[in-house]
Amino acid sequence: MAKKPYYITTPIYYPSGNWHIGHCYTTVICDALARFHKLMGEDVFFLTGTDEHGQKVEKEAAKRGITPLEFIDPLVAELKDMWKLLDVEYNRFIRTTDEDHVRAVQRIYQKLYESGDVYKSEYEGYYCTPCESFWTEAQLKEGKCPDCGRAVTLQKEESYFFRLSKYAPALLEHYEKNPEFLQPKSRVNEMVNNFLKAGLNDFSVSRTTVKWGVPLPFDEKHTAYVWIDALSNYITALGYGSEKDELYKKYWPANLHMVGKEIVRFHAIIWPAILMALGEPLPKQIYGHGWLLIGGEKLSKSKENARPELTDPYELVKRYGADAVRYFLLREIPFGSDGEYTTERFLKRVNSDLANDLGNLVSRTTAMIVQNFESLPPCGEKTALDLELEEMANGLFAKVKDAMDRLNAPDALEEIFALVGRANKYIDETTPWLLAKDPAQKERLGTVLYHLAEVCRICAVLLKPFLTRATSLILQSFSCPADMGFECVSFGYLQAGAKVEKLPPIFPRIDVAKELAAVEKLVKEQNEQKEKASHPSVISSEATEGSGAEKSQITIDDFGKIELKIGEVIACEKVKKSEKLLHETVKVGEETRSVVSGIAKFYTPEEMVGKRVVLVTNLKPVKLCGVLSEGMILCAEDEEGNLSLLSPEKAVASGAKVR
Ligand code: MSP
Repeated sequence: MAKKPYYITTPIYYPSGNWHIGHCYTTVICDALARFHKLMGEDVFFLTGTDEHGQKVEKEAAKRGITPLEFIDPLVAELKDMWKLLDVEYNRFIRTTDEDHVRAVQRIYQKLYESGDVYKSEYEGYYCTPCESFWTEAQLKEGKCPDCGRAVTLQKEESYFFRLSKYAPALLEHYEKNPEFLQPKSRVNEMVNNFLKAGLNDFSVSRTTVKWGVPLPFDEKHTAYVWIDALSNYITALGYGSEKDELYKKYWPANLHMVGKEIVRFHAIIWPAILMALGEPLPKQIYGHGWLLIGGEKLSKSKENARPELTDPYELVKRYGADAVRYFLLREIPFGSDGEYTTERFLKRVNSDLANDLGNLVSRTTAMIVQNFESLPPCGEKTALDLELEEMANGLFAKVKDAMDRLNAPDALEEIFALVGRANKYIDETTPWLLAKDPAQKERLGTVLYHLAEVCRICAVLLKPFLTRATSLILQSFSCPADMGFECVSFGYLQAGAKVEKLPPIFPRIDVAKELAAVEKLVKEQNEQKEKASHPSVISSEATEGSGAEKSQITIDDFGKIELKIGEVIACEKVKKSEKLLHETVKVGEETRSVVSGIAKFYTPEEMVGKRVVLVTNLKPVKLCGVLSEGMILCAEDEEGNLSLLSPEKAVASGAKVR
């Protein structure tokens, strides 16, 4: 029998860089849901990607003197790396610059134009560049963008409009007939009362002022409004409107668009209206989740409240592992609501649930089996206590499924960890360490350990969508196949005599106070490092001064490790919030690099542009004040600490080696 299709999408991300743990939230939830449905035997298609067009990208690239794609590509690579790091397994990563997407967006516009749902008029409105949104005067908050609070500009342009007003009655009817369409319920009130019942206005869906976008097929001086371009990805990714539309036929309508609450308006009003105009079915459900907050405010790049040392997913995964980061996101934030993020909450949650409860259960169980039996002991006569544990374990799948049907990962995890907690209590009640001392109790000990082993195994299978690493280690330690699925989530799959291996603590216990102090120290060190990094010479003064000749001498091989090349500064700007740092875009042969150096006191950005400099090109990239630095510009420093750039004496092409 053909598997049931399940299509789930995340929003496509702006290539903004400075990724923080808030960005990971939507996608990690979707990954857990996708994994859950795969384990349910469904045919899952999980889509994510990047939203790459628009004025913001155009401006950022121009500022650096590079093309939009040169600006975006490294950020997209970083985002993909982040998903890899967090074990996010998608079926397609769509970029709105992908050729097939661009062609499909053009076909969508053509169709809407031909049906009269897109028509030409003139637009005047207040535009917020960072949010890519037009606002009416009434919508502004104290004259600023109501979403991000930044300045807006009054813009007037010839534009094509989408006949949104026509679809308000059909949308209202859809909401009434499909109470599951938008979740959680609170968002429905907002959409229906604030927007639909108030009446919808046609809105502008093309720009002449933005060049970095999809040209409209019927009027090439216009580009597609980024939100229409972006929303279309959900169907263009499946080949909608093309000759290769098998995926579209199979997976559309989507089961779920998971989005942050700030973009529900686009997904729950504009997107369904566009689909209605195209004559296509609407997605089955849209879920607007809450935010990760810091100090009560949305964790956000634009608000600059993301402290890279504490909220950078790379740093967190490096310190605590992918499972810990996934677990925190999936367990701690009450689903549908906002949740405060602090390092302390993160550490406590990981410590108590993963290290103490799950980690302990598994390591104690495997250790006792290995210590007392050669392999898994048989299950003897069961007591009421055993039967109670067994019953709880056998009933767990239904509870997890119920929670996941409600998309509620925290509830699903709470259920699983209730069993973990019950099993730990069962250890205290059955006292296997005492049974082990009495040879007459060997059979009883075997029964207890058999029960514990089954609970560990069932929890591991049910935890697969959430924890990608620990679960395979647990299954492996009980000699279970890695692909053991939901058909095996009741007692009876482990056989006496199966090989069991002692599992060392899978989540080392964190000393929270010590770790918090270490993180604070790290923050301090990184701040100091930032200061130091503003010193651009290769060999620091500490390394050369009075620390013994052997320290300051290097071999020719050591020197050979440093790759030096000539670069040409093609763009330069001050780094926000730093008096010392400049951010240069340096062309090195065919390549373009982002470099941060501490020379703002000695050179203005204007003076830097056009300079040929010596660049260390094989330094490990770092972020300084949130800006990526992929190299170091060399300077001479006099005794007063004044810096002077080193440049080739004759004209040399950028990319030339320095030896
Ligand atoms: N490009 C649009 C989406 C277009 S979809 C057709 C966009 N991109 S985004 O990069 O700003 O956001 C991507 C996702 O990250 C959104 O779901 C957003 O809600 C989520 N988050 C960004 N910061 C967040 C938190 N602090 N907390 C939770 N999720 C947050 O919007």
